[in-house]
Amino acid sequence: MKTLVDQFGRRIEYLRISVTDRCNFRCLYCMPSEGLEWLPKHDILSYEEIAAIVGQLAPLGLRRVRITGGEPTIRPQLERLITMVRAVAGIEDIALSTNGVKLEAMADTLRAAGLDRINMSADSLRPERIAAIARRSIPFDPVGAALAAQRAGLDPIKINVVVMRGINDDELEDFARLTLQHAWHVRFIELMPVGDLRSLTWEHVVPSDEVLARIAPLGTLRPATAPRRGNGPARYYRFDGAAGTIGLITPMTHTYCDTCNRVRLTADGRLRTCLFGDHEVNLRDPLRRGEDLVPLYVQALAEKPREHALLQMKVGGLRALSEVGG
Ligand code: 5AD
Ligand code: SF4
Repeated sequence: MKTLVDQFGRRIEYLRISVTDRCNFRCLYCMPSEGLEWLPKHDILSYEEIAAIVGQLAPLGLRRVRITGGEPTIRPQLERLITMVRAVAGIEDIALSTNGVKLEAMADTLRAAGLDRINMSADSLRPERIAAIARRSIPFDPVGAALAAQRAGLDPIKINVVVMRGINDDELEDFARLTLQHAWHVRFIELMPVGDLRSLTWEHVVPSDEVLARIAPLGTLRPATAPRRGNGPARYYRFDGAAGTIGLITPMTHTYCDTCNRVRLTADGRLRTCLFGDHEVNLRDPLRRGEDLVPLYVQALAEKPREHALLQMKVGGLRALSEVGG
């Protein structure tokens, strides 16, 4: 099998696929609370179209797929897509990023369709606060959702916590404590004040070094290896004797561009080679015309930028992650 390398020698083997721009939450750091316009249905790739794209890219070295949104589990019959992607030769790993709300109901079905693992968002363990951050009062128990995912056989289980000063940073120890009992990977993410955020600013960012210092009273933390199949930009630690690990993801204080191995497919079928930046290639229209996507993909990778300029950009100038598929 070929491996595809971009102009800076980075092997591109990881595709994040957004299956919808919609969500049942409106997290403070992600979407405005009201007044969103969704993509018309016809603009969104069908599962058959997504699977066709994966099928064309797999022979070029694509190995791992992550399904994202918006919130992917609100798109009907997500398990159909997982079954189709699972059937593509060369795809070794299928992951799902979810807010977890529907996990208790769906984990078994998704696993049976061939899903390997999940990343679940959880920014609070307290019901009223979950509703305040998500700005929707959907009953949701993150610990119950993670347990359901684990029981279904999804592995590893990663829990992503976006740390916001004055909003949820008093729960750092509570989240960290989960790793003592559970073989879960709790990852603290530095808030990126991107998109059209009215209520969050750089003052809400808690640098990861501070997070480490603030959970230190729980025990002795030692550097740990990344969970199985982990390939992302997190640094991992483990408390002595703990079942799980603590991960730190530091988009605001470090960039990972030099090891970036990923590209993204938006819900409407545009390939984005960098999360921050406008470089994108429309794959949907050529696909619908029956054209070969390979030359477009090769060209897009040849133009994948060396790095983005998030740290230099002003708040508000960037698209929300829900629009570009996290
Ligand atoms: N800052 C940090 N992380 C973000 N995510 C989305 N928007 C942001 C942001 N502004 C990440 C979080 C969330 C997932 C869906 O995407 O990890 O849990
Ligand atoms: Fe939805 Fe995830 Fe965005 Fe929250 S962060 S609004 S759960 S897409």
